[in-house]
Amino acid sequence: MNKKKILLVGGCGFIGHNLALYLKERGHEPKIVDSLKINNLYSNKDDEVTNQILYEAILRKRLNLLKNYQIDYFIKDAKELSEINETYESLDPDIIIHLAAVSHANKSNKDPHTTFENSFRTLETTLEFAKKKKFMLYICLLVWCMEILVV
Ligand SMILES: NC(=O)c1ccc[n+]([C@@H]2O[C@H](COP(=O)([O-])OP(=O)(O)OC[C@H]3O[C@@H](n4cnc5c(N)ncnc54)[C@H](O)[C@@H]3O)[C@@H](O)[C@H]2O)c1
Repeated sequence: MNKKKILLVGGCGFIGHNLALYLKERGHEPKIVDSLKINNLYSNKDDEVTNQILYEAILRKRLNLLKNYQIDYFIKDAKELSEINETYESLDPDIIIHLAAVSHANKSNKDPHTTFENSFRTLETTLEFAKKKKFMLYICLLVWCMEILVV
């Protein structure tokens, strides 16, 4: 595949940062938009997070890896189209991979509202942006999210 600009929404997470490194190693240009607020650096102070020191070290290592690979990440909330539209426009990606979500089943079961906002609202804004252009769009969501909607 020719070199592509690939936008990873939620790309500072577990799957996203590994994928970004993989894509960069293969000559692509990954760019990341992530709020760092869900299961990430800014939410690590939540009372529910056990072993915060270890987890913070893991999260910081991820961000350092991205920095070392010269992969830009933009700290933005992807559920606010007005906030991220300009960023998406300026990044002008060829491909979008949507990974933003509340990815832990126990957390989403406890807080379906936050899960909806960060999983489906972010997906909605990604789709709104993708609609304007011809994109290859990949979406990565767990099926249990659907279960939350129907209960
Ligand atoms: N990890 C797995 O084993 C696995 C398996 C199957 C599917 N998935 C799905 O793949 C996706 C990614 O999983 P993961 O393990 O990397 O999760 P993760 O929690 O590590 O990463 C999700 C990222 O999304 C970001 N995010 C959430 N809301 C956001 C918002 N409003 N704006 C910007 N960024 C936001 C978070 O800050 C976080 O960095 C999820 O949809 C998950 O359900 C994961």
